[in-house]
Amino acid sequence: MTFSPALPRTTTNGAVTVESPQWWRSSVIYQLYVRSFADSDGDGIGDLDGITAHLDHLASLGVDGLWLNPCYPSPNRDGGYDVSDYLTIDSRYGGMPAFQRLLKAAHDRGLKLLLDLVPNHCSDQHEWFIQALQAKPGSPQRDRFLFADGRGPDGSEPPNNWRSTFGGPAWTQVAAQDGAPGQWYLHSFDTSQPDFNWENHEVVEMFDDVLRTWFDRGIDGFRIDVAYAMVKAAGLPDLADPDAENPHLWNQPGVHDIFSRWRAIADSYDRELTLLGEVWLSPTEVADYIREGELKQVFYFDLLQQPFDAAAFRQSIAESLAGLDRVEGSPAWALNSHDVHRAVTRYGLIAPEPIISADANALRTRARGEVDLQLGVARATAAALLMLALPGSVYLYQGEELGLPEVQDLPDEARQDPIWLRSHGTEHGRDGSRVPLPWAAGQPAFGFSSGSTWLAQPDWFANFTVEQQQADEQSVLALYRKALRVRRSIDQANTLDWLDTGRADVLAFRRGDFINVTVFGGAPFAVPADWGTEALCSQPLVDRQLPADTSGWFRRFPSPS
Ligand code: NOJ
Repeated sequence: MTFSPALPRTTTNGAVTVESPQWWRSSVIYQLYVRSFADSDGDGIGDLDGITAHLDHLASLGVDGLWLNPCYPSPNRDGGYDVSDYLTIDSRYGGMPAFQRLLKAAHDRGLKLLLDLVPNHCSDQHEWFIQALQAKPGSPQRDRFLFADGRGPDGSEPPNNWRSTFGGPAWTQVAAQDGAPGQWYLHSFDTSQPDFNWENHEVVEMFDDVLRTWFDRGIDGFRIDVAYAMVKAAGLPDLADPDAENPHLWNQPGVHDIFSRWRAIADSYDRELTLLGEVWLSPTEVADYIREGELKQVFYFDLLQQPFDAAAFRQSIAESLAGLDRVEGSPAWALNSHDVHRAVTRYGLIAPEPIISADANALRTRARGEVDLQLGVARATAAALLMLALPGSVYLYQGEELGLPEVQDLPDEARQDPIWLRSHGTEHGRDGSRVPLPWAAGQPAFGFSSGSTWLAQPDWFANFTVEQQQADEQSVLALYRKALRVRRSIDQANTLDWLDTGRADVLAFRRGDFINVTVFGGAPFAVPADWGTEALCSQPLVDRQLPADTSGWFRRFPSPS
């Protein structure tokens, strides 16, 4: 893997920052779940002006850019991943004027802005799908989606036995024009999210236009939703076991042609843009998505799915890095997102409850149960320091910098995730990582909104506010700020070399002059004297002993400053 050298850059407010021409290779990007970050108009729903008003928080955190979860017009049956218009911003988030204000304010501070592209499916309220329902079987309008006749003598059985990722069948039957039962359409996710037919040229051209429109408006890239899903196995064959993972829905070779096309579009601009794929596959498989001429970045989610265990972390990192010599793009790491339980809860779970799900990701990342909060915070911050030392770019999810745990105790009637609804309450889903952020105690909605929040915040959020942590040098927020500052001095041109720690439960690796050491086991680890001086530790280092559930960075030749 090669990295480009850093170049000075002057932002529009006159500040001089240092930016690599391929800034995306090592940037730290903050993921904003727009509905839950900050509300500027009191309707209880976060919006873009709310983000603009809090850019100081993000700038002082030290991130390089922002990724906004979908904020296009949407009926919000799946948190905005059911898009009804790809070319504008929903008025609930402030519409295009608020977008322009945010884009300018972000760029003025030298922050990149990425949007979320949702190409596998749209909303059933998208004008194309409304037209498809009004049109006949075999019509050009229906051909933009995956409609098929049902099976059985009267067509009352779905065209195949695929299941939706959110539970229940992957097909929904529509009414024919005379009101009689008609064809079926495929939806890999909720009924309200019909899958596009990517063999239809109008679909291909529509997305070309979406990319160009937003690039022309000045954004710096896209995170691409389920980037491995758009092309389905030819003939849509039945599964031998419908309850097992469905190989026909994902990772079909044809999907790579789409990325070559989009890459050519991105490369036609005279500024560096990124395309980041959301691909839940093994490290070996995800590497295919960042081959020459395809996406620039792909999430390596394998690490996020590991337990807090030295061998598991080492194997995942080693497998992830092993594939990089054959690719052009670079890895994107994350330990949190709007789709998984927060790391504090995952790593602090001491009494997991049994979990039932057909979705392998859910089994690995959304277990519920009793949590040891102190343990969870210690491990989550240790894992974050380790991740921030890896080669590649890092995506932080809002609230992670506050050490926020998952809200497991949401009232059932408040839950909005289609997973909860489609599984008839057997899976709790993802709402618990999407609860509006606590900014300040003693204010309505902890400073998130002057109105009542779209998802209720628990009282214990008072212990995690930005205000409180800003005033505390020992807080998780203070640690993240220091970590992002120190990370800037890691020369990203360096490879990762593992060091021998003599212990199976302690990992250490070198990146140039930096050494990262993480203690996964119970006993403290004596950091060798020649590993350098402490640059930052997630818990206090005492007599060069790094305690359990701690990660530390050591610098061999500290700079004079
Ligand atoms: C992945 C997104 O991150 C998730 O939130 C969404 O539900 C599915 N894709 C479907 O769009």
